[in-house]
Amino acid sequence: MRIFVRDTHRSSGELAARKLGAALRRRPNPTLGVATGGSPLGIYGAFASGVGIDGIDLSEIRAFALDEYVDLAADHPERYANVIDREITTRIGLSPMNVLVPDGMAADLAVAAATYEKAIEDAGGIDAQILGIGRNGHIGFNEPGSSLGSRTRVVALTDATRTANARFFDGIQYVPTRAITQGVGTIMRAQTIVLVAHGEEKAEAVRQVAEGAVSSRWPGSVLQMHPDVTMILDESAASRLDLLDQYQAEARLLG
Ligand code: GLP
Repeated sequence: MRIFVRDTHRSSGELAARKLGAALRRRPNPTLGVATGGSPLGIYGAFASGVGIDGIDLSEIRAFALDEYVDLAADHPERYANVIDREITTRIGLSPMNVLVPDGMAADLAVAAATYEKAIEDAGGIDAQILGIGRNGHIGFNEPGSSLGSRTRVVALTDATRTANARFFDGIQYVPTRAITQGVGTIMRAQTIVLVAHGEEKAEAVRQVAEGAVSSRWPGSVLQMHPDVTMILDESAASRLDLLDQYQAEARLLG
């Protein structure tokens, strides 16, 4: 795991965009894993200004979402399919038909989850995966207790996650109780992963994920076992890391 600290969201977004772009250039017809949430917005802003994507035609790239709420109406503004359309697809110029999101309204959610997992496999896996992190260490919607080998499936959201996400709804009672998410094991199969985190409220999750025991208690901690993960943090999110000096020495070596 490589860790970089950047003092503005703009510079962290640009660094992330360059790392992701390099991963996308490694294969013809590459795939991008996109994430919702506030943390990755700087990456989409960087892509929208052309950073990191020399020689890449984003309108040709296939993109896969990490997750989707279950049972939000098709036109609900917080349905991730709509969020992604608004904040990512339109902004960075993906082709809507190339963007896949799990079907949170399917009559059979287990089938929808398995179909989504297979679609990722059929595309040859994900080349460059964008990740945020929940305050409880979740990646996608893989809550504490998720199997570290899990695949795309239906999950129950914790009260902590529903409370954190209530800011996007009229109240916690309107936040869905379930989601379909790529599994921890699905995410681990991505070739390159770039995780962005900002703010003091993420500092404990960042510490546990980067330096804690690898455990389903903090699902993102399994990223320690992945060969190509870059974490890009602001100073607040990095503030509880014990080994920060070491990461910064390595970051200087990598340039
Ligand atoms: C949601 C998403 C996660 C995201 C997390 C953090 O729960 N399912 O993929 O990482 O929120 O979001 P934010 O970056 O807004 O803090």
